[in-house]
Amino acid sequence: MNLHHDIPSLRHALRGRGRIAFVPTMGNLHEGHIALMRAAREHADTVVASIFVNRLQFGPGEDFDRYPRTLQADSEKLAAAGVDALFAPTESDLYPEPQGYFVEPPDLQHLLEGEFRPGHFRGVATVVLKLFNCVQPQVALFGKKDYQQLMLIRAMTRQLALPIEIVGVDTVRAEDGLALSSRNAYLSPKERQEAPRLIETLRALRGRLLAEGITRREILEQEAVETLDKRGWKTDYIAVRQQADLLPPQEEGRKLVIVAASRLGQTRLIDNLEV
Ligand code: PAF
Repeated sequence: MNLHHDIPSLRHALRGRGRIAFVPTMGNLHEGHIALMRAAREHADTVVASIFVNRLQFGPGEDFDRYPRTLQADSEKLAAAGVDALFAPTESDLYPEPQGYFVEPPDLQHLLEGEFRPGHFRGVATVVLKLFNCVQPQVALFGKKDYQQLMLIRAMTRQLALPIEIVGVDTVRAEDGLALSSRNAYLSPKERQEAPRLIETLRALRGRLLAEGITRREILEQEAVETLDKRGWKTDYIAVRQQADLLPPQEEGRKLVIVAASRLGQTRLIDNLEV
């Protein structure tokens, strides 16, 4: 596997490569990322990954500084997974001058995650478009754990007519159900034991929603928040939304997803469950 830090060297290496599948990441890779790399291989002969902790998508007081940076271990995992090229730019490689142009996503950016992380999706969309321009893939893969991110990237790709197919890949979970995430590394052993409660709470909510119907949605959401918060979590939201647009469902029969974000100690975990 070749490692490229700057855009010219990456572009030179990828010239004439045919179909490219691209997996952007922020590193500290786990089995969820490796599943993305394997899925990428099914879509193209050349698989490119990127590792870049993108300052633009972190708000003040968020974990940009302490986000785990583990390039050596990550490179070994990617090489073992058969990735062809790794693009790992420094900040000055990707942002050689202050980034003054941004991708401003539509109103969906202000809901749910966006309400608690203002500007987050603007930073994500901007870096993803820039990475797309660097790699110029035909297909790009993203985890479904970041459900809203995946929706916004699909919409950006469609609305800006980017010639890239966006593929969503199922969340990989630990045996006890916890969704794999680089941020799980922040959990203390005690918090790690507690962490699967998030998905368990979403599963219980799904069961009750199916039994009681969407008219009970708001009560069930509130009860799910209370279930977690009584155990010491600080929940930002647990919301039943339409898969199509992440808006609250107005009628029965819509495809739904339950999305959630909650803090356990210093760690903010997100997860979702399609209904
Ligand atoms: O999902 C992530 O890891 C990041 O948001 C992404 C897509 C790599 C952009 O920085």
